[in-house]
Amino acid sequence: MSEQDLMLTDEEARDAAQSIVRRKHLLGLEEMSREEILLILQTTRSFKQIFTRSVKKVPTLRGKTVVNLFFENSTRTRTSFELAAKRLSADVVNFAVSTSSVTKGETLLDTARTIEAMGADFIVMRHRASGAPWYLSQRIRASVLNAGDGTHEHPTQGLLDAYTIMEKKGRFEGLKVVICGDIVHSRVARSNIWALTKLGAKVTIVGPRTLIPRSFAEYGVTISYDLKEAIRDADVINLLRIQMERQQRNLFPSIREYRLLYQINEQRLNLARPDVLIMHPGPINRGVEISQGVADGPASAINEQVTNGVAVRMAALYLLVGATGVEQEVPEGEA
Ligand code: CP
Repeated sequence: MSEQDLMLTDEEARDAAQSIVRRKHLLGLEEMSREEILLILQTTRSFKQIFTRSVKKVPTLRGKTVVNLFFENSTRTRTSFELAAKRLSADVVNFAVSTSSVTKGETLLDTARTIEAMGADFIVMRHRASGAPWYLSQRIRASVLNAGDGTHEHPTQGLLDAYTIMEKKGRFEGLKVVICGDIVHSRVARSNIWALTKLGAKVTIVGPRTLIPRSFAEYGVTISYDLKEAIRDADVINLLRIQMERQQRNLFPSIREYRLLYQINEQRLNLARPDVLIMHPGPINRGVEISQGVADGPASAINEQVTNGVAVRMAALYLLVGATGVEQEVPEGEA
């Protein structure tokens, strides 16, 4: 399958756009079709062209309000949703949970309804509980975008990772993508697996047995516990952070042991294809899952992932604006 095959026909694109508007929310990639995912990636490409202009703004979301409601910390996702909304000319409110009435015991639903009563059209939400964005989406009028829920999904991360692979490799079909590390706690792994398997990549997950649930075999991925074996001839290696904050019990003996068995360093990189792409959603534990040299080396696409995150989130807001009751204005350069 070539880059050409990743382009939707006009009819497919129209159907996928209508389907996204009907869906109204962006909760996960499991429920999205290949065509819906491809439409978001195509739209991302158009928005990325805007980044080269001196004025990086389009009027698509003028008059709309986007509220970032983050119950867990974030650097990349929260900031890039804010930038994406501002570049689409929306009004943006960043809700600070730590200084809000949540600390007095106000519930998630009351908090969201309060924000909505002030005129929010989109609520971008991160929460430690899997399913929290879905719960809100069933109870409020605004469009809900999942910015990461528990160990369930991080759909815009999955989309920006897929976009980065498409931009760098020009295809998905037949690519060997290895996702390495703390799979059990990773919403990023789940969203990547849903997107990449639908797009035709061959996905391998690798890590300590205690960090890989057996149930992942049902998702159409290859499971490995041997890093050196798994990364042989890999086209893409996506490394995950060990999520210390989600470990309920010690799932591996020590960081030293993890580093010895599962760190991607310059020596191990030689086992992959010469043009292997190194990805990491961030934040990085430098010197743990990835060596300093690989993180900052020529194979690394980590900073490009961050840049692409803004364009992907613009595309997601743009495609959902139809669900909030306005006509989309197509930006200049739209494919
Ligand atoms: N990749 C990611 O979700 O990073 P943040 O936690 O900084 O948003």
